[in-house]
Amino acid sequence: MAATKTNGLSIAVLVSGRGTNLQSLLDAQAAGVIHSRIVSVISNRENAQALERAKKVGVSTQCIPSRGKSNQDFFLELGKALQEINPDLIVLAGFMKILPADLIQSYTGQIINIHPSLLPLFPGLNAQEQALNAGVKVTGCTVHFVDVGCDTGPIILQKTEPIFDNDTVATLSKRLLAKEHAALVEAVTLIENDKVILQGHRTLLRL
Ligand code: GRF
Repeated sequence: MAATKTNGLSIAVLVSGRGTNLQSLLDAQAAGVIHSRIVSVISNRENAQALERAKKVGVSTQCIPSRGKSNQDFFLELGKALQEINPDLIVLAGFMKILPADLIQSYTGQIINIHPSLLPLFPGLNAQEQALNAGVKVTGCTVHFVDVGCDTGPIILQKTEPIFDNDTVATLSKRLLAKEHAALVEAVTLIENDKVILQGHRTLLRL
């Protein structure tokens, strides 16, 4: 079931680092652009800047360190934490772990991810570098539902960005990030307004 609620969704955001995508959601929430509420931010890294961003605006945070434990143990803990929070929607915003199939299957249509390329091109790590090395002239970002593959789930929306001759990973990543922030807020708006219909591997948007 795709997550929908007319009075806004409760959202858990999973992060590992800087948290600028999380910040775009926090800002959109504060500005009343989205009506969903970020109820919890969970990081697998203790020093993630994202945790500070959430704390600053009074959003509940949890750190479940992934370091020094097996994936099985980590995801067991994460699964329990999510069960307690019981969010309508889970947003992966720079979360650097690949969720296991059983966790994904218990939240079908309820987990979304932001990725810095036009999927299915350049999945996985270093998507900006992959695009530069491939010599493509246009790249972008994708918000998609998470399925059991790596960056393979049904695409909700994409934004394009040209690649210029003098682009480096840093300059391209910076421009892409601005697009990511807008795309993520747009995707949450679409989902909370029940505008995204999952149909097999596609989504249909009721615009
Ligand atoms: C973003 O580029 C996101 O697409 C990727 O990891 C980065 C996270 O950035 N999955 P931030 O932590 O949201 O600033």
